[in-house]
Amino acid sequence: MSGSVAALEEIAARVRVCTRCELCRGRTLAVPGHGNPHAEIMFIGEAPGWNEDREGLPFVGAAGKFLNEMLAAIDLTRDDVYVTNVVKCRPPGNRDPLPDEIAACRSYLEEQIEAINPPVIVTLGRYSMAKWFPNERISRIHGQPRDFGKHVVVPMYHPAAALHQASLKETIQADMLKLPRIVAEVREKRTADETQVDEPEQLRLF
Ligand code: URA
Ligand code: SF4
Repeated sequence: MSGSVAALEEIAARVRVCTRCELCRGRTLAVPGHGNPHAEIMFIGEAPGWNEDREGLPFVGAAGKFLNEMLAAIDLTRDDVYVTNVVKCRPPGNRDPLPDEIAACRSYLEEQIEAINPPVIVTLGRYSMAKWFPNERISRIHGQPRDFGKHVVVPMYHPAAALHQASLKETIQADMLKLPRIVAEVREKRTADETQVDEPEQLRLF
């Protein structure tokens, strides 16, 4: 088992029994996250909804079906990417997560990002976007990759919001179509950076 697989399983085991915030009281199942531990793209949504809480898996309801369709359009499946949320337990009545709940859950997300180390992170909706773009407006920056050094982050609309609004739907679909290109560029840049770092090390040996 590779390091990232073991690390993700260990994080998930802690999430499933977590009682760090009030959201543990109303959950059926916690939803740690799902997908490829070596994914090149990590999607971060908001919080589990009714279906996710029942199944213990992220994005399995209507928004998830739409996400799957958009992935199919770029020849990806859910097994190619990793999908998780800002908070891992369903807020009662699907209300928005509260700041103290997001804070309580933050370290799990950070550990998952570290374990996967994805070249590209896609934020879905405002709660995950706020982690990297606290004072930005989604209408201004959606679909535009920004380099944070370790990761390139691409903010996108939330599929649940876009699903029922024709103009947003077209926007998120167009933004998703940019992903293969963005991933290829980041992959190239990472390879180039690694080569640059390696050369002085090699030279020192002689
Ligand atoms: N919406 C989210 O933000 N996350 C899910 O897992 C499902 C719906
Ligand atoms: Fe723990 Fe996060 Fe669930 Fe709160 S939402 S109980 S912090 S796993």
